[in-house]
Amino acid sequence: MNIPTLATDRFVLRAFREDDVPALTVLHSDPEVMRYLRTNGETELRPRQAWDYMAVQMGHWLLKGYGKWVLADRTTDELIGRVGYFDPPYEWPGLELGWTLSRRVWGQGYATEAARLALDWGFETLRTDEIISAINPDNNASIRVAERLGQQYLRDDQLNGAPCRIYGLTRQGWHKRRHSHS
Ligand SMILES: CC(C)(COP(=O)(O)OP(=O)(O)OC[C@H]1O[C@@H](n2cnc3c(N)ncnc32)[C@H](O)[C@@H]1OP(=O)(O)O)[C@@H](O)C(=O)NCCC(=O)NCCS
Repeated sequence: MNIPTLATDRFVLRAFREDDVPALTVLHSDPEVMRYLRTNGETELRPRQAWDYMAVQMGHWLLKGYGKWVLADRTTDELIGRVGYFDPPYEWPGLELGWTLSRRVWGQGYATEAARLALDWGFETLRTDEIISAINPDNNASIRVAERLGQQYLRDDQLNGAPCRIYGLTRQGWHKRRHSHS
């Protein structure tokens, strides 16, 4: 299938490749990065687990027509994060947009820029009326990203046994924001 590539001046959103495994293993082994994401207490990830993760994301694209991208450095093409959609039909609160970046690029607006690109692609391409993000209530950096995108707090929920807050933006809200920014 054709997984779209989206680009800005600073980075590219592209499909996962097997040579991303080392960088994804490093990303998933950083306890600061995984602080609000890992619920099973595991800290070190093995390359095989990163490969399995990638295989699920690529399978998600095949099954649903959308999914997660690698956030890659525009110059080196190296994986510096992952951004995009996850929406299994079971035990998941909805069409979710997520963002996880390597610590060395935090605080430079990459997450917001990449998530906005993915959000625009989602509303332009998919038939959904709402895009949500499920965020740990203590994850302030991520809550700020959601708010910058225009997502609003909807409700408290549970995900993989941990509490989360659901933020969301409707298609109507997205249109309004686009209009007010143009
Ligand atoms: C959540 C996460 C992606 C947010 O990263 P981040 O670097 O804080 O977010 P951004 O890249 O959008 O950067 C925002 C900051 O960069 C600044 N910024 C925005 N645009 C900028 C630009 N063009 N140049 C420089 N700085 C910029 C903003 O002022 C903002 O700082 P502030 O929060 O102090 O106001 C990151 O903390 C992370 O990967 N966490 C671990 C994984 C995780 O928890 N993911 C979320 C699961 S729900």
